[in-house]
Order: sequence, then C-alpha cells, then structure tokens
Amino acid sequence: MPSILSKAFVASLAFAAAQAIPTVRRADSIGDNTALLEKLITTPTEIKRQQKLWTKDGKELLDPESLVKATTFDFSLEQPGATTAGGAPTADVETFPILLGSGVTFNHVTLGACGIFLPHVHPRAHEFFVVVDGGEVEVTFTPEMGLLGGAGASPEITATLKKDAGIVFPQGAIHYQINNSSDCKPSNIYAVLTSENAGTTLVLQDPTLGNATITKRQVGVEDFASVRAVLPARAVSVVEQCIKRCNLS
Ligand SMILES: *[C@@H]1O[C@H](CO)[C@@H](O)[C@H](O)[C@H]1NC(C)=O
Ligand SMILES: *[C@@H]1O[C@H](CO)[C@@H](O)[C@H](O)[C@H]1NC(C)=O
Ligand SMILES: *[C@@H]1O[C@H](CO)[C@@H](O)[C@H](O)[C@H]1NC(C)=O
Repeated sequence: MPSILSKAFVASLAFAAAQAIPTVRRADSIGDNTALLEKLITTPTEIKRQQKLWTKDGKELLDPESLVKATTFDFSLEQPGATTAGGAPTADVETFPILLGSGVTFNHVTLGACGIFLPHVHPRAHEFFVVVDGGEVEVTFTPEMGLLGGAGASPEITATLKKDAGIVFPQGAIHYQINNSSDCKPSNIYAVLTSENAGTTLVLQDPTLGNATITKRQVGVEDFASVRAVLPARAVSVVEQCIKRCNLS
C-alpha cells in the first residue's frame, strides 16, 4: 500500500506541475519545458502558440519579468565550465521554446586554448560557425562521398578562422574545430544551425582504440590523452603542437 500511495502522490505532483503556468527554461535555469512544448506542438497556429507563451489565457500580457524570460535568451548567464575545453550555451527548441518551427538553433561557444570540439555530425542542420573573439580556430570538415567523382572518399577541407571569419559545415558533414589561437587564449564563437532540433552525433565509435567512456563534445587539455587514440592524425598533431607551444602540458 505505501508504494501505491507514494506513486499516487508522485503522479499528483506531476499532474500539478503539468497544470501550473509553464515556465520557460532560460540559460540561467534548468527547468523542463516538455509540458509546455507538448501544448505548443498541438496548437495549430503561430499566434495561438504565442498566446500560450506570452499571455495569461490570451487576455493580457504576462507580467514584465515573465515576458522578458519568455522572449529573450541571455547567452552570458550560462558560463563555461572550469575546464580548458570551455562551454556552449545553446538556444534550441528545448531551452527556448519560441524556436519551435523556426528552423534555428543558436550557440555561443567558448573554446579554451588548444581545446577541440571532437569530430561530429549534425544530422538535421547546416552550421554557420563564426569566430567573434580570439582567433586562429582550425576547422576541418569532410563532405559526403563523391566530391571528386565516383564513389571515392572525399578529401578533408581545412581552414584557419581569424576573428570575424566563419565557415559553413554542410548538413551531415563530419567536422571538428581546434582553438589554435596564437596567443594561447580562449576563443568565442557563435554558431547558427538551420534547425531548432539539429542533433549531434559524435564520430568516435571505436572504444577498443581509446576510451569507451567518451561522452563529451568538447575536450580540453586535461582530458586530451583519453581521446587521443580515436582522433584523426591531423587533429592529434594540431592539438599536440598547440599544447607544446602554449606550455599547457
Ligand atoms: C597553429 O598555430 C601555430 C602558431 O600560431 C602555427 O605555427 C601553426 O601552423 C598552427 N597550426 C595550424 C594547423 O594551422
Ligand atoms: C582559444 O583559447 C583562448 C585561451 O584559452 C581563449 O581566450 C579563446 O577565447 C579561445 N577561442 C575560442 C574560439 O574559443
Ligand atoms: C579513459 O578516460 C579516463 C578519464 O579521462 C582516464 O582516466 C583513463 O585513463 C582513460 N582510459 C584510456 C584507455 O584511455
């Protein structure tokens, strides 16, 4: 009996939470927007979605503070973690529900000196990646097969991005980015993806070669040894030269 009672209690709490005015998750909190998104997805018109996001029952605007939370996203509030890899506050459909149906995800990314975004693919989006501060970010992507004809593998394409320069990674192309800044300082990046639900697939699939516990998208100097064996030789070479040059080992 106690377990049934406690289950009912938990269920009633969940019900109460679902009935409460939905809270819009912000960069400064880790709320859950699932209940709100379920309502938005079953609302046919954009104006009625906006009523659910920004008004009390479609009759009056939310109070000013709630309205700011529902309409703005402050990328400065979610600071990078303490690792040299940095951090990536993301405005996507989950963190910022107004993006539902917009076709946009927006990331603010900080990549520490010699840090790397591990090779990955976005299954549902192109990415436009722009360095806004810092610089000398080494970027590499591999297009799908056939760029040079036939069924041959396509060559890697590489570039060095200075401040204010950007690159487009095509949807589905494997790509990685290394902060090879000449002054060994972190770089700040904005990345726009052409889906509010872009998805990310890491391309590090052989646990026998390295570390079966790889769960990160970004790896800083302190963790580099654990992923070294599964990285492309070129990435290893760029990061190791950077670590040496910046005296980070
Ligand atoms: C990384 O930066 C160093 C110092 O600026 C430079 O010598 C090196 O060529 C860069 N590596 C790549 C792959 O561009
Ligand atoms: C590269 O690393 C330096 C030193 O940590 C940092 O100041 C800079 O913001 C980083 N660049 C990127 C694009 O993260
Ligand atoms: C896997 O990663 C952990 C944590 O970084 C590290 O302690 C361990 O040595 C790594 N194992 C291998 C085989 O690289």
